[in-house]
Amino acid sequence: MSAATTFEGELIGKERRIEVTVGYGSRYSLLATIQNNQLIPYNEQFDELSLKANGSNISFGPCFLITDDNIGKFNGRIVFAHDAYNFDSFFQNTAAPGLEGHFHNLPLIRSQKDRIEPLFKEYTQNLLYDLNVHKTFFDDLDRKLQLETDSVRRAAQNAIIETEGRKFLRFFDQSIDDLQKIVKNFSKEENERHGFYFRRMVWHLILTSDFLARTNIKPRGYQGDSEMMRMTYVNDYEGSSIFGKLLHKHPIETAAAQAVRNRRKYIPEILHETLGHFPKTGKHAFRIMSIACGPAWEMQDVFAGSDSFDRFHLTLLDQDVEALGEAASAISAVEKARGLKTRVDYLNESVRTMLRTPKLQDKWGQHHFIYSMGLFDYLTGPVAKAVIKKIFELLKPGGTMIIGNYHVDNPTKTYMDYWMDWVLFYRTETEILSLLADEPKAEASVTFEDSRSQMFLHVRKKA
Ligand SMILES: C[S@@+](CC[C@H](N)C(=O)[O-])C[C@H]1O[C@@H](n2cnc3c(N)ncnc32)[C@H](O)[C@@H]1O
Repeated sequence: MSAATTFEGELIGKERRIEVTVGYGSRYSLLATIQNNQLIPYNEQFDELSLKANGSNISFGPCFLITDDNIGKFNGRIVFAHDAYNFDSFFQNTAAPGLEGHFHNLPLIRSQKDRIEPLFKEYTQNLLYDLNVHKTFFDDLDRKLQLETDSVRRAAQNAIIETEGRKFLRFFDQSIDDLQKIVKNFSKEENERHGFYFRRMVWHLILTSDFLARTNIKPRGYQGDSEMMRMTYVNDYEGSSIFGKLLHKHPIETAAAQAVRNRRKYIPEILHETLGHFPKTGKHAFRIMSIACGPAWEMQDVFAGSDSFDRFHLTLLDQDVEALGEAASAISAVEKARGLKTRVDYLNESVRTMLRTPKLQDKWGQHHFIYSMGLFDYLTGPVAKAVIKKIFELLKPGGTMIIGNYHVDNPTKTYMDYWMDWVLFYRTETEILSLLADEPKAEASVTFEDSRSQMFLHVRKKA
């Protein structure tokens, strides 16, 4: 919100002008205090709302006043009859684009379909038909099951999912294989253009799947948020319809999703291996750091199962305060269950801050074990190089660092690009090794998890 939390102005009608003070109401409404408490009938419409901002008058179109339960000290809420202005934007920078702004690019986006390869269009049309047919069959069963009790519905849904549902998922696998063949030789730009078209075509299907909807809509503004991580770990049929449950489960059964579950086991293994390389130290003396930790499920596992619980001092860093909050609640639940106290520092920072901080180890100390999963896939080469150098500074001599990155041969790549709008910076073994190539104290190698879609740069710092 802007420094100005209220604006002065006037409601201008045919018969009268009324002075108002307005505050933020919601994205599409304002809260208003009417000067001198004048009464305004429920259906009185004003031609204009004029507000003073930055020394000039900003005009909004026809509006009226309504009341609801959430207006606090204000007299009413101003809503607009012929437009939908964005007041989130207005309270940030005093610009309130209306519907015209929102729909500005529509003709351009519609014309995208003219730049799509005929073979790709044909593939998409045929797939759409088939998917819609499958959907109508499953939706029909959903409707029939509405008449049943919860327990009968649940049992029947499970039976449908395990039989016809699994057959549908195999059909879906085949459709992804076909897609891979069609786009195999596409350039990056062609992939982007065709992916964009594809997602517009299957948008209504994407929205049936909790997972696909989230990867596409990105409610927290980025991919791989803690809710997507939860869905991936839980790996279950979630959703409100049979079709939706199937389309939710399919993307989390892929190699790339399995890689996320695999790394959850891999990190505790390497952590304990590293712990074994250091002599037994005092309470909370073994320092661990996770960069871009997310909800840190793997550390919950470590704390829940490790005999060395009280030796650890963990630092969790993430730019997303919600993800850190989830990690904190889960870790305190483990502490409570085990009757033990851990030492955890939570850093709500971006790795970009690390790049600006000269002596990082003076600030955050050095750590025996540092790892970063699901971050480098989003960093360009130069940024990845700068970040890894900073992380390496934070590693104690003799310590181990693990950096995850999806491999160029990730078999889920096309699926992620086209259905999930989840585009990563993939790397080869040589590329990931080159990130620390000029660091004489780094002993580096590359390992893979079992699905082989994700690799790990495994670095030991020479003493
Ligand atoms: C795919 S999740 C991985 C979470 C966790 N490491 C795991 O493996 O479950 C990516 C995380 O990176 C965080 N992240 C992305 N960019 C970041 C940045 N520039 N600085 C710090 N955290 C970042 C996101 O907030 C998110 O929690």
